[in-house]
Amino acid sequence: MQNFSRPSALTGTLVVPGDKSISHRALLLPALADGVTRVRGISDGHDVAATRKALQLLGISIEDRGGAVEIHGQPLQRWQAAQTGKDGLVQLDCGNSGTTMRLLLGVLAAAPLVRAELLGDPSLQRRPMLRVVEPLRRMGALIETSSTGSAPLQVRGRSLVGSDHVLQVASAQLKSALLLAGVHATGATHVTEPVLSRDHTERMLAAMGARMESRDLTVAVWPGPLHSLGDLQIPGDPSSAAFGAVAAALHPSAEIRLPGVCLNPTRVGWLRVLQRMGGDVQVLQEQQVGGELVGELLGRSSRLRATVVRAEEVPACIDELPILALAASAAEGTSRFDGIEELRVKESDRLAAIEKLMAALGIATRSGHDWLEIDGVGAPDHWRALAQAWQPGLDHRMAMSAAVTGLTGPHPVGVAGFATVASSWPGFVSQFKDLSQ
Ligand code: S3P
Repeated sequence: MQNFSRPSALTGTLVVPGDKSISHRALLLPALADGVTRVRGISDGHDVAATRKALQLLGISIEDRGGAVEIHGQPLQRWQAAQTGKDGLVQLDCGNSGTTMRLLLGVLAAAPLVRAELLGDPSLQRRPMLRVVEPLRRMGALIETSSTGSAPLQVRGRSLVGSDHVLQVASAQLKSALLLAGVHATGATHVTEPVLSRDHTERMLAAMGARMESRDLTVAVWPGPLHSLGDLQIPGDPSSAAFGAVAAALHPSAEIRLPGVCLNPTRVGWLRVLQRMGGDVQVLQEQQVGGELVGELLGRSSRLRATVVRAEEVPACIDELPILALAASAAEGTSRFDGIEELRVKESDRLAAIEKLMAALGIATRSGHDWLEIDGVGAPDHWRALAQAWQPGLDHRMAMSAAVTGLTGPHPVGVAGFATVASSWPGFVSQFKDLSQ
């Protein structure tokens, strides 16, 4: 249990961890290239550690050296587990991480020497995997799921045939799994999304020499060797930065600097929404780092007004909807979020979890399968005290959202099982302690 209460001021610099999405890819993609890649600023979260451990079990050497993570990649044809169980399968524990499980699945489906079982914690075991398993099967993949179509998954690598996929959901995990399979299949693979999701995989594959083409919402990839990236710097995680920027907006006396944050347009929908609500967040010192736009954010205390978040905007703020909902609860007027059904299949049913947190704060909400309305009360001072400790389950972002209610509102909050934040941000408590006066 971790307790949070509002300090008289929240000022200073918040250093967010390396971006989680890019960190997974910065391990997995260089592992596929013949040669050495040195990565700096990688996420210290448990999700990324799960990807690293899985790759090591698949025979990839990954070491900490001189402040960088050094990956000694090898072409997928040579990947082989050093040790397997009696059934000939190597067990890969993906923990709480959907990105680890879905991206690895796309790769391992095409790894001729690998037989693996992908396991997850109780949260990951409830998440849908057929959305990635079925299109991979159409490419020839041999994958078995549990009876509910989720983890544990068993995959037997074999040669795949490139194919065309039209996705029903804008999911970067799904798109990435298919592109990574496609780079190791025969012929071309096309992936069309309903709305552009984060594009880190495409950027990194292109930088590694993959033959690719993007037009509108379709990306195509052809098979071919990947070359190592040499040195790569990971920018700060905008999904973590959102907690700092919203905390600054909600606290009555705040000025928080967030240096080195990834500003890839597919990731900062939350920033556009927060600014539209009247959030005082400035973007300073933009520059290109490692193929991504990076900058410093400066967030200050703000008076927020309600907004409407349209379905097309959702993929670029999917992970930040819990903290944006909290911002909406303290805004003037009723906010509406449309096209948010994907929230139901995240680390928890986040739409239900958001409504539960809102109810505990005394905020009125209405919802349907894919939408949510929140009647803002104008300021955190009008939130009610939580009757009991918040139980986020195995959902790091719901744990951090509840923490922000304590850091910015008038009533202290206890969050049970707060250790779950280590999925993405082990340093959350110490970083916010440094800001508190
Ligand atoms: C991620 C994609 C998103 C996001 C997740 C990370 C990625 O998931 O919610 O936190 O790194 O590709 P979906 O692909 O399921 O939308």
